[in-house]
Amino acid sequence: MSLDTAIQPPTADRPLTDLTAALSLEEKVRLVVGAGLWSTTAIPHIGLRAMHVSDGPAGVRGVSDSADETSASFPAPSALAATWDVDLADEVGHVFAAEARRHGVDVVLAPQVNLQRTPVGGRHFECYSEDPLLTGAIAVHVVRSAQDRGVGMCVKHFVANDSETQRTTYLARVDEQTLREVYLAPFEQLVHEAQAWSVMSAYSGIDDGTTAATAAEHRPLLTGVLKDEWGFDGVVMSDWVATTSVVASAEGGLDLQMPGPDGPWGDGLLDAVRSGAVSEELLDAKVLRLLRLAQRVGALDGVEPSGAQRDRVADVDVRGVLRELVSRSMVVLRDDEHALPVAPDDVTRIALLGPNAVHPFVQGGGSAYVRPDHTSTPEAALRDAFGEVEVDVHPGAVSRLLPPALDLAGRCTTPDGHPGALGELLAAEGTVLVTTDVTDWPGWLREVPGPAVALRLRSTVRLDEPGRHEVGVGTVGKHRISVGGQVLSTSEHVVGAEVILDSSVNQPVPATLVIEVTEPTTVEIDALVQVVHPVGYASFARAELVHRVPGTSPDELLAVAVDAAAAADLAIVVVGTNEEIESEGYDRTSLALPGTQDQLVKAALAANPRTIVVVNAGAPVLLPWLDEVPCVLWAWLGGQEWPDALADVLTGITEPTGRLPWTLPAHESDVPVPDAVPVDGVIEYHEGVHVGYRSWLRLDRTPAAPFGHGLGWTTWEYESVSHAVEADGSVVLDVRVRNTGARDAREVVQVYVEPPVPDESRPVRWLGGFAVVHATAGAHADVQVRVDAKAFRTWDNALPGWVTPAGTYPIRVGRSSSDLRLSVDVAVRSPSSA
Ligand code: BGC
Repeated sequence: MSLDTAIQPPTADRPLTDLTAALSLEEKVRLVVGAGLWSTTAIPHIGLRAMHVSDGPAGVRGVSDSADETSASFPAPSALAATWDVDLADEVGHVFAAEARRHGVDVVLAPQVNLQRTPVGGRHFECYSEDPLLTGAIAVHVVRSAQDRGVGMCVKHFVANDSETQRTTYLARVDEQTLREVYLAPFEQLVHEAQAWSVMSAYSGIDDGTTAATAAEHRPLLTGVLKDEWGFDGVVMSDWVATTSVVASAEGGLDLQMPGPDGPWGDGLLDAVRSGAVSEELLDAKVLRLLRLAQRVGALDGVEPSGAQRDRVADVDVRGVLRELVSRSMVVLRDDEHALPVAPDDVTRIALLGPNAVHPFVQGGGSAYVRPDHTSTPEAALRDAFGEVEVDVHPGAVSRLLPPALDLAGRCTTPDGHPGALGELLAAEGTVLVTTDVTDWPGWLREVPGPAVALRLRSTVRLDEPGRHEVGVGTVGKHRISVGGQVLSTSEHVVGAEVILDSSVNQPVPATLVIEVTEPTTVEIDALVQVVHPVGYASFARAELVHRVPGTSPDELLAVAVDAAAAADLAIVVVGTNEEIESEGYDRTSLALPGTQDQLVKAALAANPRTIVVVNAGAPVLLPWLDEVPCVLWAWLGGQEWPDALADVLTGITEPTGRLPWTLPAHESDVPVPDAVPVDGVIEYHEGVHVGYRSWLRLDRTPAAPFGHGLGWTTWEYESVSHAVEADGSVVLDVRVRNTGARDAREVVQVYVEPPVPDESRPVRWLGGFAVVHATAGAHADVQVRVDAKAFRTWDNALPGWVTPAGTYPIRVGRSSSDLRLSVDVAVRSPSSA
């Protein structure tokens, strides 16, 4: 450090531009490149500490890989959107802030405001909705609330990153009107209404008709629209390991390459500035954005951090908020016989059935995953809630393709006869670097020392039970797997970060051997797997040791469950998806419930007509029995409080007030955008602005349940609507609804706008506003819903620019996009451009 920089005045007295001027070129470059997987560079002589970032968006995972670092696991974001409640979104922002502080995190990599363009999208559960307005409104409240408390949020993934197949390379071809009205709209709302402090650019690219480039290099969108037009003054960071160029991304508008220090920036950017390929002025602008973020989160010495309520972070009951949120988010799809709620003294024996009753699936896979602070099961929660009632639990169906984990401590011995497996780390030339006995094996060895290139695991597995056993190993990359002396799989292909990005490392399909056992016997496992040294991430070895025991055939499971249903006075069947189905990194290939779960529902219902079906899934699945089962509850991926929240709903402590933030298809063939498989690397957004329910309406197809649907536990009458037009053209509706049922309840009043005349370039109907209202049984409630003037505008590709076509717009008020109860015509006389 030079004397000059050492004696700079305190940071508080110096504007950020002066701080930039105090940095050497090398320091500036280091500042715009991550210092590690989750941190930025510290520059002590200007009072700058490292900033820490962490995923997001279903909790704050923290920055260590340690199994001891647990976090509050939130319900998947689509559950929050299903409440349509911006006050709850404020509370979620508060919980994000509290969790971020607890983990020493400055910026949370959330929310994700991409849209649920297709129901098969792998990250569907991480998104809020198929509707841009609902997405934007919820996200604005989450971001504002967290940032008000001094914690930054990184809104992702800019833009049109709505599916996972070939996710790091595809190009989304979207016309500008569609981009503006649909996919950019939530980002715009977040910049204008929440002043988001950072944005993450996507892996994928965008072809908007004039420029086709990867997101980080798309100058017209990143610099032109986001920064120049909307005035975004925060940091654009890359998605992880997504930066593939120096000049194009620097010029495009990227401000921070994450992670670092490896990657194309660093030396590459230093050389580019030195050679004049990137101007130092441009680098300074990026540095300034970084420093502004540092100032906001309190990472600059002596500078007052942002956040009006900075000190009000601890003041939140995290578990209480999450429990209320997930119980309120549940959607009553049908309840013909008023089965909900169940009075605990009205049942003596419950058959709790379904694979997800035994292993609830509470969070989707990929970067959103957190190690939960707390775990529970529906069985424990129901026993708690129902007191003396007998609870009989059976999986009843097979839903996972992959066999379960091998019980290493219980069944296995090393070649020396110790419990577990013998683990050896090998160097390139085959030398054994480390030898250890392994009993507690989570399937991974993390942070493997540099010289190790392979892990070998050897063990003898006891097979005591007569019948069909399946034993094997799942891995990624170069390997040689043998079981029972047979080589089951080999590969010479060395892999890197791509297995993290496509999530194949999470659920590797194992090579297995089937062994028919008549007398107790043993089988040897010998697995040699690659140590993966991925750029940007910590090294690891992956070996999922699996074992399927006899007695778990679908028929056997079903028979036991049906008996239990028949013997109970209430059957609760919990069906759903699981880790194999919903994850970042890949899209789904089918909307069907996996395995034999549909059979279980039908058989349980036949055995006991008093059956409630609970769907434990994030994204839509087909429910072919929906019309036959009297009571069906959509219960989401609910995070750590899910089992207790489910019990709260079943026993009537909380009303399930959820309304679907997406459309539930009845048949796969009806789905307007059934897949997102790039053709020659390109995904055509051929449906244009008609995303989600808008396409269903346009094509006149009837889903199993429309966007906005959800019954709650009462009935509502929509009594009246009146409206006033504000000076800026926004419309305020006064709506009166009456709770015509027997319980106090909440309603989500939904307002949809229709075009003055049918017009192919505009949706048949689009969400214009919404509000949650509470009314006691029998009482009416008045609620105001504001339809912003922007709801009437449309993007004219020819201008290009926004226009508001004048005319009489029917505005419809109702309970869903298809259950419309009131209507009012509003004359829009707006000027022609905004
Ligand atoms: C995901 C991002 C995430 C990042 C860091 C990426 O693979 O796309 O959403 O924030 O990893 O985990």
